[in-house]
Amino acid sequence: MTRDKLWCTVLFIATFLFSSSFSNKEGQTCAADKNCDSGLHCETCLANGNLRPRCTRIQPILPTSKVKSLPFNRYSWLTTHNAFARLGAKSATGSVILAPTNQQDSIPRQLNNGVRGLMLDMYDFQNDIWLCHSFGGKCYNFTAFQPVLKILQQIQNFLESNPTEIITIIIEDYVTSPQGLTKVFNAAGLRKYWFPVSRMPKNGGDWPTVNDMITKNQRLVVFTSKSSKEASEGIAYQWKYMVENQYGNGGMVAGSCPNRAESPSMNTTSRSLVLVNYFPDAPNFPAACKYNSAPLVAMMKTCYQAAGKRWPNFIAVDYYKRSDGGGAPEAVDISNGNLVCGCGSIANCKANGTYGACDDKPEPGATPPAAPDTGFAYLDCRPAKLRWLFGTALLSTFFWL
Ligand SMILES: *[C@@H]1O[C@H](CO)[C@@H](O)[C@H](O)[C@H]1NC(C)=O
Ligand SMILES: *[C@@H]1O[C@H](CO)[C@@H](O)[C@H](O)[C@H]1NC(C)=O
Ligand SMILES: *[C@@H]1O[C@H](CO)[C@@H](O)[C@H](O)[C@H]1NC(C)=O
Repeated sequence: MTRDKLWCTVLFIATFLFSSSFSNKEGQTCAADKNCDSGLHCETCLANGNLRPRCTRIQPILPTSKVKSLPFNRYSWLTTHNAFARLGAKSATGSVILAPTNQQDSIPRQLNNGVRGLMLDMYDFQNDIWLCHSFGGKCYNFTAFQPVLKILQQIQNFLESNPTEIITIIIEDYVTSPQGLTKVFNAAGLRKYWFPVSRMPKNGGDWPTVNDMITKNQRLVVFTSKSSKEASEGIAYQWKYMVENQYGNGGMVAGSCPNRAESPSMNTTSRSLVLVNYFPDAPNFPAACKYNSAPLVAMMKTCYQAAGKRWPNFIAVDYYKRSDGGGAPEAVDISNGNLVCGCGSIANCKANGTYGACDDKPEPGATPPAAPDTGFAYLDCRPAKLRWLFGTALLSTFFWL
């Protein structure tokens, strides 16, 4: 090693250590999650050419921390597509899983990060109801994640310990066993939180307020994709209450927001809720950070127009933690800002304020990503690729400390 190179390396490590010892804001470089402020984690978005790890958002602002007095349909919730299909999960059958995965962390962790909408695929399997990511309406050992009961118990725990939170479950329903869903929800102790179908607006009216749902302890909203279960089990048929855009690749064409086949068209205002999906047919971990960034916000605005100038109540993505900055949490904040107080972000809504009362303070995600490049930018002594490799090696060291 020449003296120059040695000096360069020392400088690199020193500045890295230096810049890593602070609590960093969104967009600032980092070495590990612990370098970032709460609500952020440290990651790179190579798909957007962003080689340096930066602090990125993983939590939306809870809109009810600002205002609780509005109808439920005046809020937007971060929603995880196939919430149960966790990267690296093993099947509870003991089999390896040969199904795609859509999220990075467990449902309790998702809930702790402010996810409030969970999309769950449920199947009859092994004399029980399981979460599967399967095909042909049938579950196999190698597509089975775990019994639904376990997840529902975790949801019950969360509702129990967070008495002002509301969770929505959207079931892709393949269950045919009689009263199958009813039994498993009851077994998990979730009946007492059930929001009754009878209180859901049938003709585009407002939902009860969040305050009211909390007071009555009706804090679990459940939708099924099977219309017959509304009559037989009191589980709301999703598209009677909600419009939803096309999921998968068909929902990712910039500038268009068609409804999915089962849903009435987006502009059907007799449905009070709006769901926006934005994820490809095949979950794509490397590209998710790109999809969940500017293109997601753009699609949300396209769907706003398509839905008759209505902001989404549910924003459903894969790998919700991945982005190049504000990501899906920021999209949810924007939607909430517009829904709750008519401001550009929920961050700018005044607590208990009236509609149109905005704070002008900058949004929390406003740190420009090009900001302080502490430590890297002026170290031009190696080819960029090598530097990056070196950084990654250093990174892994940090991770294991
Ligand atoms: C599926 O997993 C169960 C254990 O949950 C096991 O008893 C059964 O033999 C497995 N089936 C196949 C086809 O491997
Ligand atoms: C609603 O959207 C459909 C397309 O999905 C369109 O054909 C129709 O004209 C729209 N209706 C109104 C009132 O905008
Ligand atoms: C908003 O109103 C609620 C209930 O009326 C109250 O508990 C809370 O302190 C208020 N928040 C602010 C910031 O005024």
